[in-house]
Amino acid sequence: MHEHRRDRLPRTRHYLMCRPTHFEVTYSINPWMDPAVPVDNALAVAQWERLYALYQELGHKVDLIDPLPGHPDMVYAANGATVVDGRVLGARFRNPQRAAEGPAHLEWFRTRGYARVHDPVHVNEGEGDFLVTESRLLAGKGFRSTPESHAEAREFFGRPVVGLDLVDPRYYHLDTALAVLDRDEVMYYPEAFSPGSRAVLRRLFPDALLVSGVDAAVFGLNAVSDGRHVVLPEAAEGLARQLRERGFEPIGVDLSELLKGGGSVKCCTLEIRDSTLD
Ligand code: ARG
Repeated sequence: MHEHRRDRLPRTRHYLMCRPTHFEVTYSINPWMDPAVPVDNALAVAQWERLYALYQELGHKVDLIDPLPGHPDMVYAANGATVVDGRVLGARFRNPQRAAEGPAHLEWFRTRGYARVHDPVHVNEGEGDFLVTESRLLAGKGFRSTPESHAEAREFFGRPVVGLDLVDPRYYHLDTALAVLDRDEVMYYPEAFSPGSRAVLRRLFPDALLVSGVDAAVFGLNAVSDGRHVVLPEAAEGLARQLRERGFEPIGVDLSELLKGGGSVKCCTLEIRDSTLD
């Protein structure tokens, strides 16, 4: 077991979320979505409200984007853009059902005065596939974002991009298989990645927290960390224990209704990194 007995210091964050007013499951674009399974929209909203309140209790600033009618997946705000150093890389969705969410997010940032905004040429699903560490951009592909989008992100942000291949359709976005805990510290589920990508992760993050298949399957990796508090699905009990051993403070939440769309905590949370990280 690793000894990480140092004090974990939270950093105040700025998030963007989207209330699940129009959330339902009427089509299937990932293995978690089954239109035959009923969704309780009122419960989805209540569970989401709890997450929204929790971030504010933890001292974070949370902005909201208006949900578009007819866009049930817009609650997964993480997919709407990637924001680093105040630069906004828009999203371009693979599936037509979500296409309008990209421009809606670009518009949100533009009207709030963000000047460095890039409308992408290549398909990328925002922070679903782009995760930001202190020194790099980790970029998933295999199901949604394209390899071309990785180069586009590298040129726009001027950060080294590490491409990672996802191989299990249940973990179709990078943020379902890997989470950034603090600066250059990550946790991930190795089996979600190709053998070469696993080797890259071992090389870059030799001290990473490795997560079990059981915790990955309840979306334990779809978590949001402020450097101390790690908000994650409450069902990921083994992972919560592992996090505590490393000095983090896990906070379990119940987003069972939103899991029916194939998303959880991180999917509902887009981080706005207004200033330079390093
Ligand atoms: N139903 C959505 C989709 O398949 C879920 C998106 C989950 N978001 C995420 N950041 N992993 O596109």
